[in-house]
Amino acid sequence: MRKKIVAGNWKMNLTLAEGEQLVNDILAAGITLSGDQAVVIAPPFPYLQQVKALTRSQPNVFVAAQNCASEKSGAYTGEVSAAMLASVGVDYVILGHSERREYFNETNAQLAKKIDLVLANGLKPIFCCGEPLEVRKAETQNAYVAKQLEESLYHLDAGALQQVVIAYEPIWAIGTGLTASAQQAQDMHAFIRGQIAAKYGQDAAAGLTILYGGSAKPSNAAELFASADVDGGLIGGASLVAADFAAIIKSL
Ligand code: G3P
Repeated sequence: MRKKIVAGNWKMNLTLAEGEQLVNDILAAGITLSGDQAVVIAPPFPYLQQVKALTRSQPNVFVAAQNCASEKSGAYTGEVSAAMLASVGVDYVILGHSERREYFNETNAQLAKKIDLVLANGLKPIFCCGEPLEVRKAETQNAYVAKQLEESLYHLDAGALQQVVIAYEPIWAIGTGLTASAQQAQDMHAFIRGQIAAKYGQDAAAGLTILYGGSAKPSNAAELFASADVDGGLIGGASLVAADFAAIIKSL
């Protein structure tokens, strides 16, 4: 049974005090998670240790960083390494978010290096993929996403791939309020699962958690998560509101 996950990507938002309050409000919402369900909270780097401390005693609640360096260590001022993240108790690392690809020019090849460093430090990558609007309009989204998978993931063996979570985030749905339809999400998730099956076999594909991200809200989460190949969500704006995030979690 593959994991069902709701992950909250805070992006570059909140002060420490606001983040502590948000975590406490989420935990106070009375969420009960079954064995195959998990919640992942992704605060900005400075708050990781504190969020880990607040959630450490909560079963199936984990902490993610929103990025990590593509180098192991060294003279890379301002960067944060996978080893540093592991040393403060981080569990997952979001990699390849479209905002990092757009604003910081992250390439598929660079992301392959980051994935290797995250895995080498015992952490789990949440690998983001997804197409821009012009690709969707041209109906070439499958080839676009397949290239992202091939160039960033296919160097991994089947064992390493088991540690990876994939997040499909159509760029045209991120922060726009324009959510992909449940059918659009299901179609792409099924395509991604099929690509993984072709490369790694049916068992690997069946065990792979694939999250949807892009304007997921309490009003649409249940329909999105009801799709056979949608295993939860990677939530942006709605993860900053405890009641909304809790409602999305309850839709798992
Ligand atoms: O990483 C999740 C994020 O990109 C989705 O953002 O605000 O559309 O839920 P949002």
